[in-house]
Amino acid sequence: MQEKIIKDLEQALEGQLDYKEIEELLEKPKYEHLGDVSFPCFSLAKKFRKSPQLIAEEVAGNLQQTLYKDVQVVGGYINIFYAQENAINRILNRILSEQESYGSKQANGKKVVIDFSSPNIAKSFSMGHLRSTVIGNALANIAEKNGFQSVRINHLGDWGTQFGKLIVAYKLWGNKEAIASSPIEELLKIYVKFHDEAEQNPELNELARQAFKALEDQDEEATQLWKWFREVSLAEFSKVYEQLGISFDSYHGEAFYNDKMDSVIKELNEKELLVESQGAFVVEVDSMPPCLITKTDGATLYATRDLAAAMYRWQEYQPARSFYVVGNEQSLHFNQLFAVIKKMGYNWAERLMHVPFGMILKDGKKMSTRKGKVVLLADVLAETIEMAKKNIELKNPSLQDKEKVAEQVGVGAVIFNDLKNHRMNDIEFSIELMLNFEGETAPYIQYTYARISSLLYKAQFIPEKIKFASLGDTAWQGILQLEDFPETINAAYEQADPSLIAKYALKLARIYNKYYGQTKVLTDDEGIQQRLAFSYCVATVLEESLRILGIKAPKNM
Ligand code: ARG
Repeated sequence: MQEKIIKDLEQALEGQLDYKEIEELLEKPKYEHLGDVSFPCFSLAKKFRKSPQLIAEEVAGNLQQTLYKDVQVVGGYINIFYAQENAINRILNRILSEQESYGSKQANGKKVVIDFSSPNIAKSFSMGHLRSTVIGNALANIAEKNGFQSVRINHLGDWGTQFGKLIVAYKLWGNKEAIASSPIEELLKIYVKFHDEAEQNPELNELARQAFKALEDQDEEATQLWKWFREVSLAEFSKVYEQLGISFDSYHGEAFYNDKMDSVIKELNEKELLVESQGAFVVEVDSMPPCLITKTDGATLYATRDLAAAMYRWQEYQPARSFYVVGNEQSLHFNQLFAVIKKMGYNWAERLMHVPFGMILKDGKKMSTRKGKVVLLADVLAETIEMAKKNIELKNPSLQDKEKVAEQVGVGAVIFNDLKNHRMNDIEFSIELMLNFEGETAPYIQYTYARISSLLYKAQFIPEKIKFASLGDTAWQGILQLEDFPETINAAYEQADPSLIAKYALKLARIYNKYYGQTKVLTDDEGIQQRLAFSYCVATVLEESLRILGIKAPKNM
């Protein structure tokens, strides 16, 4: 409907405003008696040299009134009331024919790079990495739904002086079998031990420095160990990715750029951007601390590797956009990085975007990796799944596929809890709250979906285009919400904000449950096919919303 109205207004305004400008001006009135959509004429007064009221009257007079039930001019507003029946038929039949591709844009042949998750080898997978994983995956799905091809990149933290320490620690205290069976835990243990021991025995630091030097010089033994640490850590991370249903197109981590930094440094030098500062080299950037490129000993840094990575990705993919889904504590790093690339004269720097996010809190406090004491994501997920299973045992003990459903509900609950608020907000991690079937949760939406699925199954519903009459006020609210889906998909991409889809799905589920409470869907009368078709459309869009967020929708629960 929106689209139709905008086009109609465009004509009525005789080309004075374009589609986008009209779209920005259109409002949803606060009260129903003011129409379904409202067009304010105040900002036009200057341009048209007429009063808003007069403009509203003229434009309203030009509208194709047959499209609407009513068009009223109130003050400087044009209040438009939809012709419900037409709209219902148009919206629902569109969903019935397009099904899950409703809201998808046509493939545009462009790529979007999403750098997300990116944990550090031999360190635990932190809550921050969980957020990045969940948000990044949703953004990748959102980009795809908007017609882009997404490239999911796991920029593993697999290089740095800590590997020198790990190698030394392993040679002194490492236990091969223990590491093979629980890599992160064991590697972390010897890493912490290294730090404790080095306090008494500072020579260890010198050994670590040498070990890292050996690694950089591609010493055989050091390289083998590094490879092995990387492999076993990645195998452990992969279990979590599998559980979350997430995969990557590339695991090129920091180490991948080792042989790609010289040319970047050379380029910086040629462009006369490198400035020496106490033996180190930096690039100066406006209104920020300078970006450190090489240390006094010539070693490169995190930023140098990110610089090389950005160049590489540009050459490889020419992305329309490139997202870095990393906590807001790294904002300075990314601002510096983007500024350096801009200074190098690359206008594609504008396509790079840091997507920051807040923290996960437990009882209001930061949930973090402390010395040796870590919150393991795998444990957290296991606990949530266990709780979900208990809930099922309580509510629906005869359910088939209990294990699988418990996993889909438990994992979905964690993901949704993360995505339902704007990413910059800190989020509270409470398993009880995120599993609450009546709350703002994944299980609430999944349950709504399952409820509709069982109705459709009972009625042996087959989706096909039909003729709709009015389905009542609540269903009308639901239909207007369904109509908003394509726009929500678009906005979620433009704003890099999955929470728009999470909130959208919650609202749709809430409206449907209200409808369900008021309506006997399965009563055998002439309206049954219409009620089922409406329910089907709601289920389709709910399932698609959950899929985009990275959440499964079981048919029974
Ligand atoms: N490994 C880093 C960390 O754990 C995150 C890397 C993010 N991506 C990037 N291109 N810098 O903090």
